[in-house]
Amino acid sequence: MTNDKLNCKVLVTPTSFGKGDPALKTAIEKSVREVVYSPFDRPLTSDELIPLVKDIDGYIAGLDQIDEQVIQAAAKLKVIARYGVGVDRVSIPAATRRGIAVTNTPGANSAAVAEMSIGLMLSLCREICRADRGTRKGEWPRVSGIGLRGKTVGLIGFGAVGREVASRLKGFGCRILVSDPQLNTKVAEQLGVYPTPIEELLAEADFVSLHASLNPGTDSMVNAGFLSNMRRGSFLVNTARGELIDEQALQVAIEDGHIRGAALDCFRKEPPGKDHPILRLDQVLLTPHIASHTDEAASAMGWMSLQACLSVLRGEKSPYTVNRDIYEKKS
Ligand code: DGY
Repeated sequence: MTNDKLNCKVLVTPTSFGKGDPALKTAIEKSVREVVYSPFDRPLTSDELIPLVKDIDGYIAGLDQIDEQVIQAAAKLKVIARYGVGVDRVSIPAATRRGIAVTNTPGANSAAVAEMSIGLMLSLCREICRADRGTRKGEWPRVSGIGLRGKTVGLIGFGAVGREVASRLKGFGCRILVSDPQLNTKVAEQLGVYPTPIEELLAEADFVSLHASLNPGTDSMVNAGFLSNMRRGSFLVNTARGELIDEQALQVAIEDGHIRGAALDCFRKEPPGKDHPILRLDQVLLTPHIASHTDEAASAMGWMSLQACLSVLRGEKSPYTVNRDIYEKKS
């Protein structure tokens, strides 16, 4: 062990950490005494995490369920460095009570998620997946879709990802309506999008794309009422969080033809289980929470989360700290 290695043990659970950028693993292994990688190739449940967190000092976290029990079990833990932006699966109150810094990686994956959202929109309106399935089977399906040009897209949430989606959709000739309680009107003006009350947005949009974070106010926001306010024959895209949608209400709206199609990259329960009724609907395009999975985003999330984790372990304040009140308590 060299002198500048931190005498710390760090748990690393994101499945893509260092896969496309091996320098990340070299860097973390050179920086701390011990690194433990997740034994699973998916996000961990609270029960799976408890034995793994017992003696760790730092934790670079994928989309694991980091609840109060996990935090209680992690007696030495000083930092939970989320590899991504959302911190909805981390019990922030429990971490804050213990003085554990929770950090994230703002901006690191916004381009990747925006590109995926647009890819899903294009796949929906041109039925690319159905055409692929048919062609593979030896069929020659005469799929005919609709174009994006001239369509109205409603963005729910206008943070980093929503803005990246908007700037790209401009190139497709779309009219963009946005709804966000914390809307930055200056940015909206710069990007040429129209702040619009939600009912109006839903009534006018051909596509509704979700870019809101998950919190008690947004949980199940896409319910039967929301869906019935959406224009008949419109599409829904979700690359944000599964919990934003009441999946049963969506199933009903698709089955009765009110919603023409949906593309879902995330689900209430992940994976959703092979008996989930939504899996049977041909009009629904499903992907396994991979919107941020590009080499570029994985590398940016990896370096930012590593930097945040090491800063806190060195006793410094990370600029990416979400629960900044822990620093006030300490000073
Ligand atoms: C995020 O940024 O939270 C994505 O879901 C990837 O972790």
